[in-house]
Amino acid sequence: MFENVEQAAPDPILGLTEVFNQDPNVEKINLGVGVYQDTSGKTPVLPSVKQAEAIVLEKEVSKGYLPIPGLPAYGKAVQTLLFGADSELLTSGRLFTAHTPGGTGALRVAGDFLKQKTGAKKVWLTTPTWPNHGPIFAAAGLENEGFAWYNAETKSFDLAAALEAIAKMPAGDIIVLHACCHNPTGCDPTVAEWKQIAEAVAERGLLPVIDFAYQGFANGIEEDAEGLRLMTSIFGEAIICSSFSKNFGLYRERTGAVTIISKDADTAGKVASQAKVVIRSNYSNPPSHGGQIVATIFEDAALMDMWKADLTEMRERINGVRGSLVSGLAALQSDVDFSFVAQQRGMFSLLGLSQEQVKELREKHSIHMVGSSRINLAGLSENNIERFCKAVASVL
Ligand code: LMR
Repeated sequence: MFENVEQAAPDPILGLTEVFNQDPNVEKINLGVGVYQDTSGKTPVLPSVKQAEAIVLEKEVSKGYLPIPGLPAYGKAVQTLLFGADSELLTSGRLFTAHTPGGTGALRVAGDFLKQKTGAKKVWLTTPTWPNHGPIFAAAGLENEGFAWYNAETKSFDLAAALEAIAKMPAGDIIVLHACCHNPTGCDPTVAEWKQIAEAVAERGLLPVIDFAYQGFANGIEEDAEGLRLMTSIFGEAIICSSFSKNFGLYRERTGAVTIISKDADTAGKVASQAKVVIRSNYSNPPSHGGQIVATIFEDAALMDMWKADLTEMRERINGVRGSLVSGLAALQSDVDFSFVAQQRGMFSLLGLSQEQVKELREKHSIHMVGSSRINLAGLSENNIERFCKAVASVL
């Protein structure tokens, strides 16, 4: 039977790591997968996470199954991060949160729930978007199509084009928005622009799925949630997909969450019951370790301060690299203006290079990035940025 199975193409992001690992050049630069690297190129376990892990191991008394939605303390931490400790939503009875295997798991639960338990048929994705969005929703049985979001000429978010596209979307469709640090462009709407988008989405009767994988990487934990909090004050219903891969550095612990906001507590109870049915037939119940780490940090004020400092260090390093990259490229050539990189936020920017230029960078310079010319800025540091700028200038 397996002889009929055809070879699949490598994953456009995770597949890059294999190619990078096989590159023998000692000066190779990895700007592919969105994983934080410190100045020595390492992806560290955050000090706050290391301490929380010690507490978790000390206190853990069982390896029995968790409830389908995961640890209640983890759910509370997720909701507090999303909406703020004083949000009415936290006590409204309108929320259902489940620990999912990463942000990808959250998106898949959202897709499965929408397909199986509502009449939803189609998902609208920003153009461009994270390359896994389409396959996740397609695997759940939902059609997907792109809509205008990014202006490749101005290298910025295009509000007018987005609003025009939203105005044409049929009621009952799903729209996926990135709460901050848009992947791959790094271009986010302002809070005032989010208001206009939210009003347009609500007016069209669309169901928003908000992907929130980079909270704390743009301007701060609370600052990065401003757009989301404003939008959820406008939407009666929404689904939020959180990931703690980046902001807690818990990549391999698969620590994400799906949060469903219903219009009232009665509906939320029914939604929770059906979401649990969806999860049960997928991964049954979540892994424990990452959720325990996040919950432990949340319940300990000193660890919480430490985590905030860890996150600030990552954010400030990436934002610093943005500035160095702009000045480094400007010093080498004047034809192409890369100042947009300093305006953008999060791990990624799209350099605007052609596929041939990306290939040349990989083959001639051992610089690895996504085919769209998305770079992970965390892969750059004072140790390699000059070499990177010279290589980019040479392919322009
Ligand atoms: C990325 O965009 O590189 C990350 O979100 C990792 C992934 O799973 O693709």
